[in-house]
Amino acid sequence: MEFTLAITGASGSIYAQRTLMHLAASGVVEHINLIMSEAATTVAKVELGVDLTGGDRGAVNRWLGLPDGSRLIHLHRLDNIAARPSSGSHPQEGMVIVPCSMGTLGAIASGAGTNLIHRAADVTLKENRRLVIVPRETPYNAIHLENMLRLSRAGAHIIPASPGFYHRPQTIEALVDHLVFRILDHLGVPHSQSTQWKGLPQQNRELVSTTED
Ligand SMILES: Cc1cc2nc3c(=O)[nH]c(=O)nc-3n(C[C@H](O)[C@H](O)[C@H](O)COP(=O)(O)O)c2cc1C
Repeated sequence: MEFTLAITGASGSIYAQRTLMHLAASGVVEHINLIMSEAATTVAKVELGVDLTGGDRGAVNRWLGLPDGSRLIHLHRLDNIAARPSSGSHPQEGMVIVPCSMGTLGAIASGAGTNLIHRAADVTLKENRRLVIVPRETPYNAIHLENMLRLSRAGAHIIPASPGFYHRPQTIEALVDHLVFRILDHLGVPHSQSTQWKGLPQQNRELVSTTED
């Protein structure tokens, strides 16, 4: 499988990191086109203390714990509008934007894209491929919400960066992964963790009245 993954300058670089790690671990993804906005590298420095500027695949591999020589990740410059993800004739399964800033969300929703991330998302929609968008801002204003609705109507899967707590995560990674596995579900990538709701655990069943056994 081949996907494009875009990282933009919304808070939540760790969502991008762990989505990439789990795509790599899935065993079915052979090629990831990675595109980062300038703001994404700034936020990654602030939040994770990692320097991803300079288009260095080695640095990205180290960030993800991949072997130095791994060729899974293909980095594309933001201004390279001739890169593979820019064309619908290049076959791939889909694209995820994680996390997605309100600026990128607006550019895609308006159809007035100016960089490779916007173009690749536009192409994914026009080819009826899976486009997963993980927006992050709080609170959302009416423009943000309308842009999400517009993109949802155009076929995008909107998965806000709002993980659940009902699995009682004990670490930030466990909290983040709960959302990441939902992203993989929507991309159609298998993973080892069950995110399928199976009702409350036995010890909590009395908390809600239910007619289930
Ligand atoms: C530390 C930091 C956190 C930010 N968090 C958000 C955020 O959660 N959501 C958002 O829409 N923008 C956020 N921004 C602002 C965006 O980075 C900014 O609007 C940028 O122009 C987005 O560009 P891009 O869409 O090309 O990545 C943040 C900026 C910084 C420096």
